[in-house]
Amino acid sequence: MKRIIIDGGQEISGTIKISGAKNSIVALLPASILTNGKCVIKNVPDISDVRILLEMLEYLGSVVSFEDETIIIDNSNVQNKDITEEFASQLRASYYFMGSMIAKFHHAKIAFPGGCVIGSRPIDIHLDSFRKMGIKIEEKVNEFIMDVDKLEGNYLYLNFPSVGATINIILASVLAEGKTIIENAAKEPEIANIASFLNSMGARIFGAGTSKIIIEGVKELKDGFVEVIPDRIEAGTYLIIGALLGNNLKIENVIESHIDSMLYKLKEAGVKYKSCGNSIEISRAKELKPINIKTTVYPGFPTDLGQPISTFLTQCNGECLFEETIYENRLRHIPHLNAMGANIKVFDNKALVIGKTPLHGRKVKATDLRAGASMLVAGLIADGRTEICNIEHLLRGYERIVDKLSSVGVKIELIDLPE
Ligand code: EPU
Repeated sequence: MKRIIIDGGQEISGTIKISGAKNSIVALLPASILTNGKCVIKNVPDISDVRILLEMLEYLGSVVSFEDETIIIDNSNVQNKDITEEFASQLRASYYFMGSMIAKFHHAKIAFPGGCVIGSRPIDIHLDSFRKMGIKIEEKVNEFIMDVDKLEGNYLYLNFPSVGATINIILASVLAEGKTIIENAAKEPEIANIASFLNSMGARIFGAGTSKIIIEGVKELKDGFVEVIPDRIEAGTYLIIGALLGNNLKIENVIESHIDSMLYKLKEAGVKYKSCGNSIEISRAKELKPINIKTTVYPGFPTDLGQPISTFLTQCNGECLFEETIYENRLRHIPHLNAMGANIKVFDNKALVIGKTPLHGRKVKATDLRAGASMLVAGLIADGRTEICNIEHLLRGYERIVDKLSSVGVKIELIDLPE
């Protein structure tokens, strides 16, 4: 079992380089099987979700290499095999094989996806949309069996702009007959990244990144190339750390417009930062004003930064209202923050954070990926020593986090203990 030990309260300075986006690469890899050709993907983060997906690709027959942040995939021998529970349950993004396999083979048998336990996470919008494209879906106890004779484009209005459903529909429709229109599509930057990869293979996707996406089906796809966009959630997490402990901390490889909502909120709290090209320099503020945060879909404040920012709110002078609107169970980290000295009252999906309270190091648990980030930020600002267990969750989404933080002055250590 892996844990992180942090001796908090250190000032942080130097440069942190942001890696490629987890939520892009986890869709780009399943997307790659849509071609029988070769794919080159650059700026790939070496995180456990990527390693699992590479194993899945190899299981399907892809030949893959991963060196110097670049993945090269040869898909000339990909075969249609069942995606079993052993693979699918390891991560949420396994469900992207539904879209890519049904498009390629017109048949897919896939076990239920895994992922962080942050809510019920239904996939009804994916399934309804697939059915409207002519796909027959049999839902068994723990798997989906999907078949289609003629895969056809359709007009699809999404009841909610789901990131996963938008990407899955794009994957299913690039090789379909006719045109697919996705209305009320998710606008997250990762979607444009996936579309640009598929378009580089010869797909015809228009409007990705807006709420109306049009896909004109093509007969086949060729070789593909893409560079993974910088991870806006990783960038946001380090900005929070810089706002609490930074002394001219430079966060490099950032697309600023992807994290406007975070920067706006930090500025409102009194944090000063300087942008310079693709980097942002940030320092701790002497006094933080209270702010309110409500998570929502892009370009609103991202749910994936809700947990890390909640730790920041404990350091604001006054009352901050925090509201999570995307998942029904993303406040499970709050008892751990309170155990460290925070004063947070939870009602339903809202939390009233009363600050400023000093935090004290102790043993806590990462209940999921972003909860791990919240605990990490707490450990960095706490006095004394913090030990975070179940850290495997955190390592799924943050590349080389211990090295990156050590290099800017944090006293942090990763310990791997036998179970
Ligand atoms: N939803 C439905 N029905 C559906 C699909 C979604 O009700 O068919 C609901 C979900 O239950 C959830 C909300 O809509 O309450 C958002 O779901 P969405 O489909 O937009 O998210 P996702 O595709 O499951 C991805 C990221 C999440 C990130 C969200 C929102 C991946 C693998 N996951 O999830 O990332 O929170 O988009 O931006 O890309 C994380 O990185 O920590 C993480 C959880």
